[in-house]
Amino acid sequence: MKILFYDARDYDRDSFDAQLKNYPNIKIDYIEADLSPVTASLARGYDAVCAFVNSDASAMALEILRGFDVKLVLMRSAGFDAVNVPVAKDLGMTVLRVPAYSPEAIAEQAIGLGLCAARRIHKGYARVRENDFSLQGLLGVNLHGKTAGIVGTGKIGAAMVRICNGFGMKVLGYDVYQNPSLEGMVEYVELDELLRRSDLISLHCPLFDSNRHMINADAIDKMKDGVVFINTARGGLVDTKALIEGIRSGKIGAAGLDVYEEEGDNVFRNCSNTIIESVTSTLCSFPNVVMTSHQAFFTKEALASIAKTTLDNATAFANGEELTGPAVVC
Ligand code: NAI
Repeated sequence: MKILFYDARDYDRDSFDAQLKNYPNIKIDYIEADLSPVTASLARGYDAVCAFVNSDASAMALEILRGFDVKLVLMRSAGFDAVNVPVAKDLGMTVLRVPAYSPEAIAEQAIGLGLCAARRIHKGYARVRENDFSLQGLLGVNLHGKTAGIVGTGKIGAAMVRICNGFGMKVLGYDVYQNPSLEGMVEYVELDELLRRSDLISLHCPLFDSNRHMINADAIDKMKDGVVFINTARGGLVDTKALIEGIRSGKIGAAGLDVYEEEGDNVFRNCSNTIIESVTSTLCSFPNVVMTSHQAFFTKEALASIAKTTLDNATAFANGEELTGPAVVC
């Protein structure tokens, strides 16, 4: 099987090449360009493409791929909102993903961002480097004894529930399905109640058209004053303008963001010599906001697991095995 690997970085090559010796029938060509309608034709002659979270596997890109007889899209991510799944289905393409490479990697980043923002650790770090040992403006809040609201209690949300329990927090959960493994650890409530009662809110659900901007001005209005807000799920879940207003008004006391609506243009790129005029730069300018560039997945353990599962997915497809389970998007 020949795979064209889009949007390849050094760390992708390292983690996939480290596994490839165990998959003699797979050959990978890595390219820096990301998948889009413009670059889809580069996949001529390949059996599969491997794409990532900000790839553009839209209808047009998929149609071009299918035209070149590419039948398999290997998402090296858990989320698959980058793929137009109904179109992929119509075209008879198979889309496989990595459903659980390391839920703890994401949950640990989520609590890290929340703590950093709530305790102004990023500000303290910068001050001490400048020999400024003052504490003005760095007053934080305890998490112990407070209430955490976890939106989406699947694999990552469950890891976050366990972490928040460990911090001595009461944990509320909102999900369309309740996770039986969390019995005794979480109280399930409706979203409105979670928004009203939580001192810390962390998003861990997938993005669909139906829940785009689920955190909008109305939702933010319902939150407690000074809430710690964390998003490591998908930027599109949050109406960024409403979030900015919420931070300006003091309703949101601290925000930790690994994902944001405009990340597609900048994410995984070094834009340090570019003037970025966007909501991203507005968010970055706030003293109580800590942002990372979609790096929650980025641990050694997670990268090794992503590579292995993606290559297992490719092998199962190549061997004509019956594809079932959570790796199968369509
Ligand atoms: P999962 O499928 O195990 O859990 C998702 C949970 O969300 C499920 O329990 C589902 O019932 C629930 N859900 C679905 N729609 C919902 C809604 N409208 N409201 C509330 N809950 C809803 O997925 P997992 O592995 O926990 O990942 C969650 C999300 O985290 C992914 O979809 C992805 O967008 C994001 N993610 C972010 C990463 C990063 O690096 N920042 C890395 C990996 C995933």
